[in-house]
Amino acid sequence: MVRHLYPKDSSQQKLNLKDQDVLRPMTDADLRLRELETIHELAKTILNSLEPSETLERALDVLINTGWFNCGEAFLKLDGQVETLAVGLCRYKTIDDCSLRPRLILDAERVMNTSQVTQINNWSLIPIDNMAVIALSGGNASSPFFETLIDIIRAALKRSRLHHRLSEKETQRSKLLQALLRAQEEERGRISRDLHDQVGQALTAMLLGLDAAITNPDGANLGRLKELASITLGDVRRIALDLRPSVLDALGLEAALKRYAREVTERYEIKIEVLVRVPKRLSPDEETVLYRVAQEALTNIVRHSKAKQASIVLTTTPKYVQLVIEDNGIGFKPAELLPAERIGLTGMQERVELFSGNLSIESSPGKGTSIHARLPLRT
Ligand SMILES: Nc1ncnc2c1ncn2[C@@H]1O[C@H](COP(=O)(O)OP(=O)(O)OP(=O)(O)O)[C@@H](O)[C@H]1O
Ligand SMILES: [Mg+2]
Repeated sequence: MVRHLYPKDSSQQKLNLKDQDVLRPMTDADLRLRELETIHELAKTILNSLEPSETLERALDVLINTGWFNCGEAFLKLDGQVETLAVGLCRYKTIDDCSLRPRLILDAERVMNTSQVTQINNWSLIPIDNMAVIALSGGNASSPFFETLIDIIRAALKRSRLHHRLSEKETQRSKLLQALLRAQEEERGRISRDLHDQVGQALTAMLLGLDAAITNPDGANLGRLKELASITLGDVRRIALDLRPSVLDALGLEAALKRYAREVTERYEIKIEVLVRVPKRLSPDEETVLYRVAQEALTNIVRHSKAKQASIVLTTTPKYVQLVIEDNGIGFKPAELLPAERIGLTGMQERVELFSGNLSIESSPGKGTSIHARLPLRT
């Protein structure tokens, strides 16, 4: 919403003058004093504002209300779009009556990425740090005094922008943490269900079988009981592997990836090639993140891709470690998934971003899928 800033009632107030001052001509000393008062007023008003839009709006307010300019307009680039943030009103009843104004936003857009004050008719357009423009009319925008004012505005804008970015990062970080905690809870729920449904039921069946065998040793089906025990052992091993394969800690990521890929190949008949070119072991955290990404990507391949072949490639550059998981399956359109339909993919992304990395998904129908995860290497 555009704020309209009105000059204070009388021009006397605007200039901060007293009655006796109006009666005598302004001396150099008066002028310097006025300048100093304006600098003080501006610094006091904007240096503690925490949002770029607030800084700019307050700055415009001071410039108009101290009487150095008749009117003005402030523009800010938000999400790549230049928008009017505030207008400081002049002798026109409403700013829309000003015949120059419709063009002003276009001029502001043009001037924003320059470092020059640009004069357009009776307007001075002042670009600030490629993100804002203040347009002013009815005053002198080229004096050293005015440059000081702009330096103060620039410093305040920089400070508020940093603050804004920091608080955005903080919000993002806490969202990530919440999502991670949620994912952890969901994982616990899944493990608990696996233990209850598979292992629990198999052990119950075995107990019943053993009871029957104790009561009637001759009719006992020991072969069936042994089969149940071995299936259960397989289930327990699989659950343990899903949780955290001991081989990841003991032998590292390469061994763990190969082991997981072998397991998937045996169970689902998907040929998986694993290629690892990493000169030394990564940190335990990095290995865990990359292992989880590969695990989720392979689970998706098994569940959705109908692929016959897949590959896992882990390589490093001096600055990054990169994991690419590809399949030759049916592919999909990632951009068309709603947030609720891509919880697994988002989880992968969030894990990687927590380590300042990035994850990209390339896929289209009929063309297979490839997932690229990249983590910066800590030196
Ligand atoms: N390798 C793939 N091949 C084809 N489609 C895929 C592949 N990976 C993901 N998809 C598509 O993307 C969707 C989202 O995947 P995502 O992992 O986020 O969720 P999910 O696997 O459906 O559920 P979960 O939350 O249990 O992981 C899948 O439902 C599927 O349609
Ligand atoms: Mg999934």
